[in-house]
Amino acid sequence: MFLDTKSGKIAFETRGDKANKSILFIHGFPFDKSMWNEQAELLANDHFVVTFDMRGHGESAAGSGQYLVEFYVDDVIAIMEHLGLEKTCLCGLSMGGYTAMRAVDREPQRFSGLVLCDTKSSPDSNEAKINRANQIKTLLAGNKAQFVEAQIKALLAPKTFESNKQTVERVRNMIESTSDTALIGTMIALSARMDMTGSLTRITVPTLIIVGKQDRITTLTDAGEMHAAIKGSRMTVVHDAGHLSNLENTTEFNAALQKFLSANNL
Ligand code: MLT
Repeated sequence: MFLDTKSGKIAFETRGDKANKSILFIHGFPFDKSMWNEQAELLANDHFVVTFDMRGHGESAAGSGQYLVEFYVDDVIAIMEHLGLEKTCLCGLSMGGYTAMRAVDREPQRFSGLVLCDTKSSPDSNEAKINRANQIKTLLAGNKAQFVEAQIKALLAPKTFESNKQTVERVRNMIESTSDTALIGTMIALSARMDMTGSLTRITVPTLIIVGKQDRITTLTDAGEMHAAIKGSRMTVVHDAGHLSNLENTTEFNAALQKFLSANNL
C-alpha cells in the first residue's frame, strides 16, 4: 500500500486486526520494511502491526533526496493519521531509533511505548561526520560495491558471517537496492540529526532498549547510557548479534520484544 505525501509515495504494510493494540516499526539505514518481517509476522497474531519504507528506501519514493529526521517523523505521523491510529507503540532500529526518539519527544501523546534497538541518543561525532563524508565520496565516485562491502562488514557480528549466510545476503540485497540518491541524502540527514540525550529524561512511556552484544556502530555503552537516563526502562543484550540484532538473533530478539509488550500491556 502507498500513502501519497508532498514528498512522494511512502510504501507501508499492515498486518493483523486493527482492533488490537498497535505497534509501528521503523527500519534502519539503508534497509527497508522487510527487515521486520519476522517480528511483524509473529506479532500480527495479537497486534495490529505497521511497517513502512522510509523515504528513498524499499518502495518509497526518493523524492528530492533531501531529508531530515524531522521529515521521517512527519512520515510516521502521516501514516498513523492515515490509518486512524491515535496511539501506538514505536519500535525503531538505529536510524529508526533516532526517528522514534524524536517522534516521542515531539508528540508524546501519540505513543504508548518505545522499543529502541541498536541505536543511540547522541549525534554524530566529528569522526563519524568525516566517515560519512568519505562514504558519500565513495558513492559519488561510482564505487557502490565498495560502499556496500564496508557497510556489511561494520554491521554484522562474526557469527552471522560464519553461520547465517542468508542474513548476510538479505542485508546485502537491501543495501544494493537503495539508490545512490537515497543513500547520500540519508547520510546527510543522519549527520545533521539532533542530540536526543537531553530528551531521554522526558520519556515516560514504558521503554525497552535492545542491543546486539557485538554492535560496533551503536554500542553496549550507548545502550547503557540510554537505559540509565530513561526512567524505568529495561535493557536486553542479544547474543551473537551485531548492529542488526533482530535479523542476527531473531529468537532472542523476539522473546525480549514479546516479553516487554505483554508485561506492559502494549
Ligand atoms: C542504521 O543502521 O540505521 C545506521 O547504522 C545509522 C547510522 O548510520 O547512524
